Amino acid sequence: MGFNEVILNLPQPPSIWFVLIATTVSALLYPFILSRKSRIDGSDEKLSNRLPENPKRFRPATKPTAPELSFRELEFYKDLFFKLQNLESYPDVLPIARQSILWLLSEALKDYTKSPQTNILSLETFDEEKLCRFLGDHHSRVTAQYKEYIELRDSGGPRQLVRDRHDAERWLRKIAPLKLVDGAWLGHLNKISIPFALRPIMKKTWQIFTEELGDGNHQQHHVYIYEELLRQVEPDLPKPTTKEILHPRYGFNSIKYWRGAVAQLMISLFPEEFFPEILGFNMHFEMLQLDTMQAAKELPEVGFDPYYFLLHVSIDNSHSGHAAMSMECPVSYVQQIEQTKGKEAARIAWRRVQAGYILSEWLASTKDEATGIPLQINRTPCSQLESRVTAIFRAKAQAAQGLHCGCKVKIGNRHIDEWLSPGEFGREKWQKDFVDSLSRSKPWVYPGDSNKSRLVRELRWGGKMFGSFTRDELLDLEHWIDSLRPHRIPFYYDFVGLAESAPCQGCEGSDVAKAVFGTSGVSDDADDTLTSHSKQQLRKLEFTASDLDLTRLLPLWITQCCLLESYVYAPARTSDKIGCAVVRLLRAQLGFETEGIMVTGIDEPHHDGDSGIVGIGLEMIRRAFLPVPPDLKSVLARWPSSFAEKMLRLSSKPLQNFGTLLGISMALLELQEVVSKSADSGIISSQSGVCLQELVRRQYHQLEECRQCISTDEKLLANYSQGYAMALLEIEKCVKSA
Ligand SMILES: *[C@@H]1O[C@H](CO)[C@@H](O)[C@H](O)[C@H]1NC(C)=O
Ligand SMILES: *[C@@H]1O[C@H](CO)[C@@H](O)[C@H](O)[C@H]1NC(C)=O
Ligand SMILES: [Fe+2]
Ligand SMILES: [Fe+2]
Repeated sequence: MGFNEVILNLPQPPSIWFVLIATTVSALLYPFILSRKSRIDGSDEKLSNRLPENPKRFRPATKPTAPELSFRELEFYKDLFFKLQNLESYPDVLPIARQSILWLLSEALKDYTKSPQTNILSLETFDEEKLCRFLGDHHSRVTAQYKEYIELRDSGGPRQLVRDRHDAERWLRKIAPLKLVDGAWLGHLNKISIPFALRPIMKKTWQIFTEELGDGNHQQHHVYIYEELLRQVEPDLPKPTTKEILHPRYGFNSIKYWRGAVAQLMISLFPEEFFPEILGFNMHFEMLQLDTMQAAKELPEVGFDPYYFLLHVSIDNSHSGHAAMSMECPVSYVQQIEQTKGKEAARIAWRRVQAGYILSEWLASTKDEATGIPLQINRTPCSQLESRVTAIFRAKAQAAQGLHCGCKVKIGNRHIDEWLSPGEFGREKWQKDFVDSLSRSKPWVYPGDSNKSRLVRELRWGGKMFGSFTRDELLDLEHWIDSLRPHRIPFYYDFVGLAESAPCQGCEGSDVAKAVFGTSGVSDDADDTLTSHSKQQLRKLEFTASDLDLTRLLPLWITQCCLLESYVYAPARTSDKIGCAVVRLLRAQLGFETEGIMVTGIDEPHHDGDSGIVGIGLEMIRRAFLPVPPDLKSVLARWPSSFAEKMLRLSSKPLQNFGTLLGISMALLELQEVVSKSADSGIISSQSGVCLQELVRRQYHQLEECRQCISTDEKLLANYSQGYAMALLEIEKCVKSA
């Protein structure tokens, strides 16, 4: 995303008043104008700013009633709740999730910019001390309220959160959707594709995340603990990742908590695009809340186990717990951006941290009712339309050659004839540039308005180019133009001061999400040698690190951390035996210390340097006096490896490919072992060798545990052996030929 030159600098009297009035009016009117009819008419300019509609949708003759609207919105969230926790089966949900989270962010920001002095927007510029004081004030207010509450209770006052056991049960059910995804907002923030420079911050947030997951111990797993609590009233509670959990019979009937849960799952999906927003969200979410403390006190009074809430009073504490770590992350982030990208970039980074913070606070404070989120969020992926349009122009380029040479029309910085030159138009980058430029070329294309666009008019009956497009081609072009609504979600972009990313860019999610969940993930290039090889007796690796060819080793080494990273994004899936083992495995790869009984809290990520697998990989690069690439993408651009790409593809479906991924991991672990024992070759320092040996033992232990869990499943075992053999073959290619 590029930065916008025109920055909305709040407060800015005239425009802000316009925005305030416009948003207030629209907020007041919104329930009344929600009916799809008035929106499709486009009679209200403001409304055309909302998310696009599918024009072919059936229009109901009457407006739905308020309860009906609530029900539809509730179902919308439930559907997302399920799909987002089963993402590998529903990759199409990504663009919907992205637009929905942008919509929620925008709504929250609209509300909060109305009275910036009363919220975190009062910290106009980033200042660590002021932020610390701001959060400290919040903390003091909560503890003061709690003190008051305790005094009231001590003097015989009634319970305030729950009246009696029945009421408590209702409350526990009401908030359940949120608690059953505890930690989810950080679920994708462990991706190997995140720039290496952000890894120290990522490691801290991941520390929080794995603590939510009990650090691989199901007794301490937050979702598991909440499930146990609910089982007191609902012994047959289905798993939170199933469709059954959505059934209204469980009394999870609060739209607010479904919205909150889904928002967490949604924002987590875009760890690169929304990195600062996630840090801000985390900073708010981890703060101590009054009702957590009240619940810890009142639940045992009515016969419920308060452990879940007690845990959150202590683990989230602001001195050494999650709240403290959550504040450090945005602070380091904004400082790092300032150092590397300058003041303006840091200002935007701070705005974005604020936006995430506000989203969390807003979700927690909105009423338990529908927000009017557009439910018909564009379901045809934009990129599909865009690639169809590109294909049309590619096909036309040949026929159109020379026809436009007298034509003075410029699209972007080139004449049309120049664009369509068949030699150039064969290049993908050229096509993309053309379509991008075209989408911004008024009067030829008015984004969002095909009828007004001259290109369309000329191609229609009566136009100069009538007949050069078939009817279907013209329809595709029209749909594409109509999908290019400018400022579909203006407020978030205005607020943070970023240019809106072109509607078709990123609507499939960021590169990471694409890499992680967008691609097919099937092993497309299974070759026969693998199957036969897997039947051979598997040999041990017979070489030492000095035999290794770094340029082949490095892409495998860095990429190997992707293998099981996506297994953990749905917190509820990590409380069983396999899930816990995977969490511990990933912790070892990241170089965390061995899980103890004690929660390590703030102690852990303070160790300097990256002592995990990636850190050791970067050390190899430095020791070989090679330039250190900034991220995985650059690693693979520099040292291409089709097997690394294959690992990334396979890892995008961690459940379907689980056996294969385990097998590959095991083979690569043997490679790690070889490297760990060859420090005298100079490839890594002897200190790193010692660390690596320990990491290898820990990973081995966890992988073995996973393998035992699948040992009764013939198919998975076959996948395991195949993955193992396949990776071994690749590892052998890393050995220098004599
Ligand atoms: C374009 O014009 C046609 C015919 O007047 C109309 O049916 C259609 O809805 C218009 N499309 C848009 C996007 O305004
Ligand atoms: C796992 O094995 C099954 C059959 O045993 C096969 O259909 C599937 O493609 C394998 N998966 C991978 C990722 O190789
Ligand atoms: Fe938690
Ligand atoms: Fe927490």
